[in-house]
Amino acid sequence: MITNKQFQKIYAESIQDPEKFWANVAETTIEWFQKWDKVLNWEFPNYQWFVGGKLNATYNCLDRHVKAGLGEKTALIYLNENNERTTIDYQNLSKQVNKFSNGLKSLGVKKGDRVLIYMPLVIEQIIAMLACARIGAIHSVVFAGFSANALRERAESLKAKIVITATWTLRRGKKKLLKPVAEEAIKDLEFVEKLIVLNRDKNETSFINEREIDFYDLLNPQSEICEGEVMDSGDPLFILYTSGSTGKPKGIVHNTGGFLVYAQYTLENAFNIMSDDIYWCTADPGWITGHSYVTYGPLAKGLTVLIVEGVPDYPKPDNWYKIIEQEKVNIFYTSPTALRMLKKYGEEYCKQHDLSSLRILGTVGEPINPEVWKWYYEFIGNKKCPIADTWWQTETGGHMIMTLPGLEEKPGVAGLPFYGIDVAIINQAGEEMPVNEKGFLVIKKPWPGALSDCWNNSDRFIQYWSEIGKVFFTGDFAIKDADGYIQILGRSDDVINISGHRIGTAEVENLLVSFNGIVEAAVISKPDELKGERLKAFVVLKSNIKGDNVLKLDIQKYIKTKIASFAVPEEIEFISSLPKTRSGKIMRRILKAKELGQDVGDLTTLED
Ligand code: PRX
Repeated sequence: MITNKQFQKIYAESIQDPEKFWANVAETTIEWFQKWDKVLNWEFPNYQWFVGGKLNATYNCLDRHVKAGLGEKTALIYLNENNERTTIDYQNLSKQVNKFSNGLKSLGVKKGDRVLIYMPLVIEQIIAMLACARIGAIHSVVFAGFSANALRERAESLKAKIVITATWTLRRGKKKLLKPVAEEAIKDLEFVEKLIVLNRDKNETSFINEREIDFYDLLNPQSEICEGEVMDSGDPLFILYTSGSTGKPKGIVHNTGGFLVYAQYTLENAFNIMSDDIYWCTADPGWITGHSYVTYGPLAKGLTVLIVEGVPDYPKPDNWYKIIEQEKVNIFYTSPTALRMLKKYGEEYCKQHDLSSLRILGTVGEPINPEVWKWYYEFIGNKKCPIADTWWQTETGGHMIMTLPGLEEKPGVAGLPFYGIDVAIINQAGEEMPVNEKGFLVIKKPWPGALSDCWNNSDRFIQYWSEIGKVFFTGDFAIKDADGYIQILGRSDDVINISGHRIGTAEVENLLVSFNGIVEAAVISKPDELKGERLKAFVVLKSNIKGDNVLKLDIQKYIKTKIASFAVPEEIEFISSLPKTRSGKIMRRILKAKELGQDVGDLTTLED
């Protein structure tokens, strides 16, 4: 635990000389094959950390622990919905990764090739990610809830050589098929050379064509030795798609060196890690949290990581508490959405279980309501566990603003900027806002976890650093109090956060207008007790089409098949026209204000 005085001292040093600070961190967290020549190369808007440094992410996540005598330490504990348990130690995880790496190589996968991973949260998903990293292929994980259309878009954007999937995942006792979705997504994509399928049934999978191959048929015959590719610090490790304010999701690229240093170091600090901790982050590698804080950060640190393929409240509302008790979890990191759900079921479920193993709690993904924070503290943490509220983004690679264990906690307020993170809250003119006044949250200088590019879209990358002045524009509104604590007030752009999942209103609107019969559409968010926010769509139909409930359901189904269920507007209202400016821009703020019964504000630019 850190004191405020210690924190302030380290923070001041890190801001005074960030390069010295990060050089020291990089040297102590990661084993490099070759040390870097330069800590940071920053030629606006491009930057690279640890220039000339050579490393391999999986050497740091696996080999070095085995070499240090920790081969028999459990690396992963996997549980499914039926509480069936599988574990794998560092030595065996390393062997499986090497074998799968050799399998990928045998298919012709080389450094720089893109591999799409569309799998549930199982040990093989982590093996697949690490095997790519081992040989320098760039993985891109797509959350298993996404539709064939969304998967196809990503495969096309990446020109993915390989897609890896599983036959199914279990959700609330029901099998959700994945392989048919992957097959549909790639059916006429000729550049996809192989579909690797993890068969989760004892019986044979039916392979529809010779492009498909079984995960273990590929892995089993391979050698257990695969030398890790010597990667440059600046070589991409992975690409993860996320929604923005434009119609299409963008591929956020993270480099090997900076990302790995940052993921491990932020993890260590945020959760005050001890080497024998049982660590559980409930995220899925379909999102950034599953990259930084399920896979790379904790494995680089050599922790025992719990992964659970399931939901908080199935088979019973006490499911997660039962797991914490059974596995003696020490560090528990989850989202406000999950906590709101658990709180709704009530604390009697917490009380049925011994949660005393917990030492540190964490939260991420959305602002946490103070009452939910207090409930988490009292009933899950038993008033003895600090809560690390961690603010960050897909783009930032790791925690940026948080309350480190030991520092004063302010429920609902994310906390202080992390070491080396130089933040400001500014207005449209780039001027810093006074204390307690709302503005745009920006980061003034690059940090090691920062995205290095947007895949095939460097203009979009530059936009992050040039929205207002030459600083990184986070897209969030925030205020800073007199102690320097930063409270996140939600997005300032057209991005909506539903249960911690990002979706751009433009993305949904684009799809709505591609639905036969819809002329125009506008999407807004409304507050939601459980999910944080939910979507409402206003839709203008062709004059000969009648808006009724059947049509609503058809539109909802359409969005689900084009993106995923979290992106479906729960409410759809048919209206005759949308409010617009004279230049034709839809004024969503008017729709939102009317919907929420608020003052509609200045209407001078409204056309009609
Ligand atoms: O609005 C912020 C919110 O989630 C956005 C980033 O979403 P994503 O890239 O999907 O990454 C989520 C996991 C890191 C941010 O712009 N957000 C994230 N963490 C917090 C948060 N809002 C408030 N408090 C947080 N702790």
